[in-house]
Amino acid sequence: MSNYHIKHLEEYWQVYRKSVRNPESFWEEIAEEHFLWRKKWDNVLSWDFSKPEIKWFEGAQLNITENCLDRHLASRADKTAILFEPNNPDEKAEHITYRDLHRRVSKMANVLKSQGVKKGDRVCIYLPMIPELAISVLACARIGAVHSVVFAGFSASALSTRINDCDCKIIICADGSFRGNKTLDLKDIVDKALENSPGVKTSLVVRRTNTTVVMKEGRDVWLDDLFDKAEDVCKATVMDAEDPLFILYTSGSTGKPKGMVHTTGGYMVYTAYTFKNVFQYREDDIYWCTADIGWITGHSYIVYGPLANGATTVMFEGVPSYPDYGRFWGIVEKHKVTQFYTAPTAIRALAKENLNFVEKYNLSSLKVLGTVGEPINEEAWHWYNDHVGKKNSPIVDTWWQTETGGIMISPIPYSTPTIPTFATLPLPGIQPALMDENAKEIQGNQVEGRLTIKFPWPSIARTIYGNHDRYRDTYFSAYKDMYFTGDGARRDAVGYYRITGRVDDVIIVSGHNLGTAPIEDAINEHPAVAESAIVGFPHDIKGNALYGYITLKETGEGRDQDNLRNEINQLIATRIGPIAKLDKIQFTEGLPKTRSGKIMRRILRKIAGKDTENLGDISTLLNPEVVKSIKNNALV
Ligand code: WT7
Repeated sequence: MSNYHIKHLEEYWQVYRKSVRNPESFWEEIAEEHFLWRKKWDNVLSWDFSKPEIKWFEGAQLNITENCLDRHLASRADKTAILFEPNNPDEKAEHITYRDLHRRVSKMANVLKSQGVKKGDRVCIYLPMIPELAISVLACARIGAVHSVVFAGFSASALSTRINDCDCKIIICADGSFRGNKTLDLKDIVDKALENSPGVKTSLVVRRTNTTVVMKEGRDVWLDDLFDKAEDVCKATVMDAEDPLFILYTSGSTGKPKGMVHTTGGYMVYTAYTFKNVFQYREDDIYWCTADIGWITGHSYIVYGPLANGATTVMFEGVPSYPDYGRFWGIVEKHKVTQFYTAPTAIRALAKENLNFVEKYNLSSLKVLGTVGEPINEEAWHWYNDHVGKKNSPIVDTWWQTETGGIMISPIPYSTPTIPTFATLPLPGIQPALMDENAKEIQGNQVEGRLTIKFPWPSIARTIYGNHDRYRDTYFSAYKDMYFTGDGARRDAVGYYRITGRVDDVIIVSGHNLGTAPIEDAINEHPAVAESAIVGFPHDIKGNALYGYITLKETGEGRDQDNLRNEINQLIATRIGPIAKLDKIQFTEGLPKTRSGKIMRRILRKIAGKDTENLGDISTLLNPEVVKSIKNNALV
């Protein structure tokens, strides 16, 4: 029996039981056999969820890039590590071998060093999906700098907030990016962001679109000049297992975005292990995850997990609709992709188009299909299974979070029988529990509750950057000695988990995690707005879309409502990003509130979702009369 590679269901159960009976020895064995350590640990795990403090492989030393790059050079130097597929289908795909990648990461690391970057410094990376993005991430890891990747679809103000929160002195960005038939001026966005981020002294600019940009003297430098001159050998900085590897921001239900901090040793072990098993990765596979490296999915399952296994990982610069809706399938055929991992929202969007876009390609190379980011509905699941997998490729519905670092609940393909919309079983080492309203664990099957995890796993985020109290309050205070996920879930008769969605004020739109509070803050900045409340409502393609209830100040009354709607959405786009724009905006006289002044989102959610039959008891509200008028004027 191999703990590292599960091959059938009985083996899964054996491994799972062992992992729960003795998690320390389970993870120790995997860490020992499959990774390169400069020094072994003194202690596998120490933890206390009440502080909270979690340490894996304490005392161990390593560099994650030696595991992702150097150690493959002996046997896989000429194997493709990153297969870059450009936005423009006529531009040649680039095969970056392990040898090339090692060289380019080393050069980039030397560039960073030449700019004064040291171990522990935070480096902001704001790049499109081009090889330099993965290379920059790994270059930081090479020298022990902490990368903070910000998705290049975020606005200037969202970027600036993230830069300032973790005090980055340097940013790696690009002149622009190609997205379908559009060219976006990324450098302009960065320039605007840096007006509010005076701490950034250096910006390294990657040339991609060759758009004209303004280079600020003394701050902005073209990367290629420095890169060409840099040495191509860079000794890896030796890191402690618990040294931070990266920060990645995720929305909270209130307040500013949370900079989740992931550390080195445990994150490496867990992402590599889950990559191997969830995708049943084998040596000659061509693995493709369509996410952006700006999200955790890209960190764990485009960069670190695949490279730690010596895999070939596809990086796609473009969008699924360009030059037409067959692009994904064309790429699968062209590169003979074996594992394909995407989001339900992409599947729903493609399922709306003509079947011919799928059927004209040969997809017989596919062995495993994956989804992530939000619950997948049955219809989308069947479309994916029938037309992409031809009923021959198991679908892994993988549930996890930015905070968990790696996949937590998922089928093991070819082992776990799948059921549409079920993430099925916990991976080895993961101990889920469901909790009731009285914070008691619900035992048995065919039950529903709030999803928590009882025991630490190696890739759990260790803190929120600069705010450990918030980390404790958000994840460890709802239930004693448990990690609270923020999701609800059902456990069926055989013990399979089905995630039912968020139980807090986070809304998942097209697989993007959006907190209501920051959007409301942006709206409230509009001079005509008095107050606002955002809720999600079901949407065919996006899963959820945003519905805003907005009350106006006197100055706003009588103004053209469509103009106001545009201005408000514009404001949201500049403060957060276009993904957070509202689909529907209803102007209301007031918002339903409790006597303590809390907005009753539950009622607003029901109205937006056309579920007005049973609004519950509204008599205890401060202003029950507004509910009726909101209901009568609802945009449904
Ligand atoms: C939230 C985390 C993990 C990478 C992408 C999202 C939802 C995620 C599933 C799934 C149902 C899912 C949860 C979770 N979610 N995967 N397979 N089924 N819901 O990371 O932005 O941190 O969002 O996404 O609600 O809490 P994230």
